[in-house]
Amino acid sequence: SQRRIAIIRGDGIGPEIMDATLTILEAGGFTADYVNLEAGLSAVEKGLPAMPPETVEAIREIGIALKSPTTTPVGGGHVSANVALRKALDLFANVRPTRSIPGVKGPFEDFKIDLIIVRENTEDLYAGIEFQPHPDMAQAVKVITRPGSNRLHRYAFDMVRKQGRKKLAAVHKANIMKLTDGMFLEEFYKVAKEYPDIHAEDIIVDNCCMQLVTHPERFDAIVTENLYGDIVSDLCAGLVGGLGLAAGANIGEKCAVFEAVHGSAPDIAGKGIANPTALLFSALMMLRHIGENDTAKRIGRAVLKVAGEGKHVTRDLGGTAGTAEYTDAIIAAL
Ligand code: NAI
Ligand code: MG
Repeated sequence: SQRRIAIIRGDGIGPEIMDATLTILEAGGFTADYVNLEAGLSAVEKGLPAMPPETVEAIREIGIALKSPTTTPVGGGHVSANVALRKALDLFANVRPTRSIPGVKGPFEDFKIDLIIVRENTEDLYAGIEFQPHPDMAQAVKVITRPGSNRLHRYAFDMVRKQGRKKLAAVHKANIMKLTDGMFLEEFYKVAKEYPDIHAEDIIVDNCCMQLVTHPERFDAIVTENLYGDIVSDLCAGLVGGLGLAAGANIGEKCAVFEAVHGSAPDIAGKGIANPTALLFSALMMLRHIGENDTAKRIGRAVLKVAGEGKHVTRDLGGTAGTAEYTDAIIAAL
């Protein structure tokens, strides 16, 4: 029987970029038994929660999901489908590669950027613990745990080693947040001792941002807390051509959910102009995760070829190609 993969088609441009991605995977020789699951606004419109428990359980059982962006319905009572999924499946590591693509103009076309960010995905200020003890004061609790930091660092060092990278930088603000970020950093250097082949260093988050826009080639891999990772990874996406290219993976002990960094782009939904690359790159991360490295490499090369030729460029990157034209160009390159 074929490998099963859970699919969330998503809202807005979600179904368009999912169709393009699965068509390209098939052209690249990859097929699977895709199991479509409900989530997001389309689920809410059917009277279900944004992340139905049946969907969570199905992903838990299947172990691998490819997810298109979902729209978070505005107004009370609606939890974001993504937050619900990350919590329910304990997807503790958010992995986001940043790689410059020859032919795609970022703000720094001369730079060769190839770095990977591992962001903690369940703790920090995003644990959602807030109070308002006085009408004129609100407080939020920052939660960092030793086991949570330890497993993240271990995952990051393993990944750096597996990808043949040389260094890993912990990004923090331990000079100010001595207990929380201090604990994160302490665990980092504790785990680092087990990886003598990888150069471990740390950098304060504000300096890191400055270095990223002046000398991005200095970075190989970054491991950081939830809030810093959220901000720093968007900064990195901007360095290499924007949201249409930024791929991501949410990794847990037993499950992994692969999704683009961007949202459902309601402003361009249904127009056939969305750039499917970010979801496609996320799908290639998924292929590598399940050991389909050759297929991932072949499809990745076809994308680079199309980008390098510069003839079929989507609008977000300054071209005129629609989703279908771009998809066909990649399939032709395959
Ligand atoms: P967004 O990422 O959907 O859009 C921001 C801008 O980037 C828009 O102008 C959009 O047209 C453009 N853009 C994004 N992806 C693109 C692509 N593949 N090709 C071409 N252009 C693209 O962010 P926004 O507008 O803040 O959020 C829209 C909805 O998406 C919200 O409901 C939000 O909650 C949800 N969202 C969902 C995420 C997920 O499911 N992982 C992540 C982020 C937002
Ligand atoms: Mg973000």
